[in-house]
Amino acid sequence: MKKTVCFLVFVVMVINLNAQELKSIALNPPDINSGLTVMQAFSKRSSASAFTSEKLKLQDLSDLLWAADGINRQDSKKRTAPSAMNAQDVDIYVFLEEGVYLYNASGNSIDPVVAGDQRALAAGRQTEFANAAVILVLVSDISRFQNGDEKMKLSLAALDAGMVSQNIAVFCAGTGLLTRPRATMDQPKLKEILKLKDTQYPLLNNPVSYPAK
Ligand SMILES: Cc1cc2nc3c(=O)[nH]c(=O)nc-3n(C[C@H](O)[C@H](O)[C@H](O)COP(=O)(O)O)c2cc1C
Repeated sequence: MKKTVCFLVFVVMVINLNAQELKSIALNPPDINSGLTVMQAFSKRSSASAFTSEKLKLQDLSDLLWAADGINRQDSKKRTAPSAMNAQDVDIYVFLEEGVYLYNASGNSIDPVVAGDQRALAAGRQTEFANAAVILVLVSDISRFQNGDEKMKLSLAALDAGMVSQNIAVFCAGTGLLTRPRATMDQPKLKEILKLKDTQYPLLNNPVSYPAK
């Protein structure tokens, strides 16, 4: 009995240590003068089929997240991506080798969710994408829609996630990064490790990396 209690205390301590390993990372202000022109970016937009693991520089990660769904109007707190009814229902989970973070647009930071490399869950059966430096998983919380039945909310959620994903794609095209919009992922396991509520749906994800040298 005593041994079992000691073992359980040890397990709880290890779990706590793991959760504490990650710390919030402050992001830089976006560099709004970087990248190609919008038309040049469109001319380069495409879905990549292979990614590299080289970690993104802090400025590139900051710019990527701001372009994806950052706040671009401080007075109204509206975002770079539109959302139906301004529900701002899409949260961006940032999967890095060291763990998963949640993009905090108002604090301009990424905040710890779970330690450890979880990119394989975001890659799902397309295991070849699990090595991408970062995978952004777009999760809509349909409880943020004030009106409409569930079917309507789910369809608006998918449209809103598409908006964020396309911002990512155009940003990547304009700054020389690689990405691919993907519906494939291990949704049940993602819901479990991210501790999502029943109203939160992982809808799309975008692996992102530098091109191979
Ligand atoms: C909503 C959506 C879901 C997609 N899901 C996947 C996916 O699960 N796996 C994948 O490899 N590509 C996925 N793609 C990427 C498409 O296959 C790709 O956009 C298409 O082949 C056209 O290529 P292009 O983006 O280079 O123009 C998805 C694209 C969209 C828009």
